[in-house]
Amino acid sequence: MARLANWLRLAAMMVVSAMLAVTTFSAAAGVDLPKLEKGKGDKCVEDTQYMRKNHMDLLKHQRDDTMRRGIRTTKHSLKQCVECHASSNTGSVASSKEDFCAACHSYASVKLDCWDCHATKPGVKPIKQGSTGQTSNARSTLSSSPLLASGMNGGVK
Ligand code: HEC
Ligand code: HEC
Ligand code: HEC
Repeated sequence: MARLANWLRLAAMMVVSAMLAVTTFSAAAGVDLPKLEKGKGDKCVEDTQYMRKNHMDLLKHQRDDTMRRGIRTTKHSLKQCVECHASSNTGSVASSKEDFCAACHSYASVKLDCWDCHATKPGVKPIKQGSTGQTSNARSTLSSSPLLASGMNGGVK
């Protein structure tokens, strides 16, 4: 009987220390994972652990390929990230502090300029060409109505 009790205690301690290890890991990574909404589908474009650490490099690499080398793939496309990671609440990846991309970044004090141009919401309709009446409040509306949307699909309307 005493043996069983000991064994149970040991097992409980193992569970607790495993949980602590996880907490310390995210703290050490400088990222307190604040309840992130799970993305759509069952996996990310790369291994989750890898994404946590390396998504910025993937994105920059993808951008350089597209912009400078004219290679256009969708594998690490920013548009795809937004499609899978938009919040079910706000429909955006970065309009509230709980939204997927913003949640980590605000904790880690990472500021992105990406959303100045890129949509934080999936499937936003491109703005018709010639509607240039929005310069003054463009910044404030950009995140919800990305001017770039028309450029993002190669100008195809
Ligand atoms: C000044 C506006 C601007 C800013 C700021 C900006 N981009 Fe872009 N980005 C563009 C334009 C324009 C394209 C080309 C769109 C196209 O042809 O698909 C593009 C294309 C991309 C692409 C390739 C297309 C895709 O959907 O994958 C990626 C990836 C990308 N940008 C990532 C980023 C990231 C990450 C940031 C922030 C670090 C950023 N961009 C900031 C304007 C901008
Ligand atoms: C097909 C849908 C899909 C696409 C596209 C996608 N993701 Fe994901 N992503 C997921 C899912 C699902 C998970 C959670 C996987 C898990 O629980 O192991 C995830 C996990 C992540 C994580 C780790 C989150 C955590 O819990 O720590 C990051 C960071 C991430 N994605 C960033 C991105 C970026 C950046 C892009 C675009 C380059 C992207 N994702 C594209 C579905 C997607
Ligand atoms: C698991 C937490 C986490 C999630 C989720 C996350 N990021 Fe990040 N991101 C970070 C951290 C931490 C950094 C800073 C890394 C560094 O400074 O080396 C970063 C940096 C970046 C950078 C580089 C910024 C720069 O100026 O160099 C880009 C671009 C970026 N993230 C895009 C995204 C996008 C887009 C999403 C949502 C699809 C996202 N991230 C989701 C944690 C996260």
